[in-house]
Amino acid sequence: MQKLAPYHNVDGLEPAKGMLEIAKHKGLYKNYLNQFMFLNSGLEYDQYDVVVTAGTFIAGHLKSDCLEEFCSLVKSGGYVIVSMGDRYMKMVEEYRQNMRSTIERLESQGRWKVIKDETFPNYFKVGSGVGRLFVFRKL
Ligand SMILES: C[S@@+](CC[C@H](N)C(=O)[O-])C[C@H]1O[C@@H](n2cnc3c(N)ncnc32)[C@H](O)[C@@H]1O
Repeated sequence: MQKLAPYHNVDGLEPAKGMLEIAKHKGLYKNYLNQFMFLNSGLEYDQYDVVVTAGTFIAGHLKSDCLEEFCSLVKSGGYVIVSMGDRYMKMVEEYRQNMRSTIERLESQGRWKVIKDETFPNYFKVGSGVGRLFVFRKL
């Protein structure tokens, strides 16, 4: 991302201390947040232009209600961008039950608009490798 545009004001959130240490060596982030993401995370709402998360919607990781938390964290007009393995939408029961309904509820409540909801190839090497990309714009 830094090669594409001068993104300097970026925070990184990661619950695993070891992973956060690796991230620190890259010197890419302004704040390093060592915590889990969950609904009512305690982070200040309406503070980010964009939230990007990759590969965190997997069994035992983020729950669907984190989508609502991401929506709360971005400013009006900001974006939430999620990439994940498409197969987890069906394989993980919690996502099967709650992910689409959470996305649709936030849209019907006028909190965000779904900009992209599509699959793409070569996301990872195991299984079909098909990824899913969501882009939401907060209203
Ligand atoms: C499969 S890795 C993906 C790492 C990287 N983003 C990528 O795409 O290669 C999942 C990451 O999510 C983190 N994680 C797990 N549960 C989390 C939670 N509740 N909140 C925030 N991060 C979490 C893990 O520590 C791990 O670093």
